[in-house]
Amino acid sequence: MNTMLWEFYALGYDALCASLPHKKIRESVIRIIGEKKYDTILDLGCGTGTMLFSLSRNNEVSKMVGIDFTWTMIAICQLKQLLWQRANLHFMRKSINNLDFISESSIDIVYSINTLFALPHPATTLTKVSKIIKDDGVVVLALPTEKFSFTKMAKEHISLLTKLTLINQILNFGANLLLLPLWLIVGIANLFISLKEKRGSYTTYDKKKVIAVIDESELYLKEMIEILSGQMMIIKLGKNK
Ligand SMILES: C[S@@+](CC[C@H](N)C(=O)[O-])C[C@H]1O[C@@H](n2cnc3c(N)ncnc32)[C@H](O)[C@@H]1O
Repeated sequence: MNTMLWEFYALGYDALCASLPHKKIRESVIRIIGEKKYDTILDLGCGTGTMLFSLSRNNEVSKMVGIDFTWTMIAICQLKQLLWQRANLHFMRKSINNLDFISESSIDIVYSINTLFALPHPATTLTKVSKIIKDDGVVVLALPTEKFSFTKMAKEHISLLTKLTLINQILNFGANLLLLPLWLIVGIANLFISLKEKRGSYTTYDKKKVIAVIDESELYLKEMIEILSGQMMIIKLGKNK
């Protein structure tokens, strides 16, 4: 499996995670997951682990696992783990095209942020997900829609920035200036991603397309919301009984 683009993207990915739109996506996923006591949470395509590290502050979860097939993404997760030592957090370098190594009906929450668009057979992965979640388990997907563009996301960042206090605006601006070399990597990686979309290797979803994929799996739609001016869809799924 060719992970070259993601290995390169990993070097700058934390700049993207520090952006306000990404923070908004994470907050929306956390809101939709809800606050309950969970045993196990699984992040499919965890990237550099930003979402898992913020979730793992919640000690109500006994075990959290992040899976990603990119060496550099997982290496950055492991570095953060050395620093923050979250006992309930584990990372695995594996492809999420095959989840047979996870026991059936063993997971409470499975979520995946910005990853499904890169899968060649998303319905196959979702069918596997339906097997590994518990009967009352929840699946949450965050997907870029056809309205998504890197420049529109930059505009969203600026619009969210104007809502912060002046001191936070200055701090955020300063931090992004320091992160400028990483933003260059993010920009180049996104150019390659849009090329891959144009060639059909990656897919952006509208409501109809995503429902068709869900219908192919053994999951059903519980809730769907749009955020960031319709550029991202957050979808909550349950397991067909
Ligand atoms: C756009 S990043 C999203 C990262 C993270 N979920 C976030 O939102 O910060 C997509 C991630 O999916 C991973 N990925 C793509 N296809 C994958 C596959 N088949 N198996 C495992 N990971 C995959 C990439 O390595 C990358 O880290």
